[in-house]
Amino acid sequence: MEEERIISPNLEGSSEERMENSLRPKTLDEYIGQNKVKENMKIYIESAKKRNEPLDHCLLYGPPGLGKTTLASIIANEMHSNIKITSGPAIEKPGDLAGLLTNLSEFDVLFIDEIHRLSKSVEEILYPALEDFTLDIVIGKGPSSRSIRLDLPKFTLIGATTKAGSLTTPLRDRFGIIHRLELYSIEDLSTIIKRSSKILEVNIDEEAAKEIARRSRGTPRIANRLLKRVRDYAVVLGDGDIDLKIAKHALNSLEIDELGLDEIDRKLLETMIVQYGGRAVGIEALAATVGEEIDTIEDVYEPYLIQIGFIARTLRGRKVLPPAYKHLGYEYLGE
Ligand SMILES: Nc1ncnc2c1ncn2[C@@H]1O[C@H](COP(=O)(O)OP(=O)(O)O)[C@@H](O)[C@H]1O
Ligand SMILES: [Mg+2]
Repeated sequence: MEEERIISPNLEGSSEERMENSLRPKTLDEYIGQNKVKENMKIYIESAKKRNEPLDHCLLYGPPGLGKTTLASIIANEMHSNIKITSGPAIEKPGDLAGLLTNLSEFDVLFIDEIHRLSKSVEEILYPALEDFTLDIVIGKGPSSRSIRLDLPKFTLIGATTKAGSLTTPLRDRFGIIHRLELYSIEDLSTIIKRSSKILEVNIDEEAAKEIARRSRGTPRIANRLLKRVRDYAVVLGDGDIDLKIAKHALNSLEIDELGLDEIDRKLLETMIVQYGGRAVGIEALAATVGEEIDTIEDVYEPYLIQIGFIARTLRGRKVLPPAYKHLGYEYLGE
């Protein structure tokens, strides 16, 4: 059985979803960090509004928990549009998508999460819808079937994906705006933690917010989750206020180290150091050795480990780098 992982950037269950919604910023100004994306989006939104046109279709990509869904809602909000939310796997048949599209109103935002998981036949319906707001439907079967073209309301598609590389070229090409969300800096995460604390009505000091931020792997969803766990410790062991001491105690009890690494990260790195002797290792072999899905390693573990300079992607596979040896207490013997 899979144990619950506190640093998992994926959503786990409905109570967490409720919490996320309460902590979600509603406007671009409240959305912390990602400054380049924000600046660009502000201009595009302003321009679309002035031209009285819907915003161009947007593709948002990046690891889970970085604010793709949040940003999609904010965009709709800033456009004063309604948003309809669905996901790639939820749209099973072309008819499902046709149903969604014909129910849109002018200027609506259609948000498709995990858009890389749309099936081919569904995707093909989407092309003309995105390009010229039309829907081709086939009526009847066999030789007597005919195709009719319907006009759709002008809408904006926002697609989100953790795997931009898995998108087909024709789909990708139909997005006018493509943004990659980056892992957040400690400063931005700390601001997010302080903002969330206010909403949750917890007192937290600057140092404690920084400490939680440092261990959040660049990911707001993890930052918010750690904040909630630390609050539990503060409530039980203290007066509910969070200072550095209680934050450190709580995070250590959760076995999240100073860099936010957990057991699986350590297992990954140790496997690369000990079993593969620091040589480049293919992702398939690595996944099999540590017993994790390739996708999970690529989307969840790797981005942060690359960001902090612990592993590198090379042509021959993944390589573990000297700072990882040092962090785990191994001697680096060179190439
Ligand atoms: N830029 C941000 N500023 C403040 N909070 C954020 C930001 N990005 C994400 N969050 C918080 O992190 C949580 C996860 O974000 P979400 O949009 O669901 O991520 P994704 O869709 O990329 O997996 C949200 O509930 C939100 O509270
Ligand atoms: Mg999401």
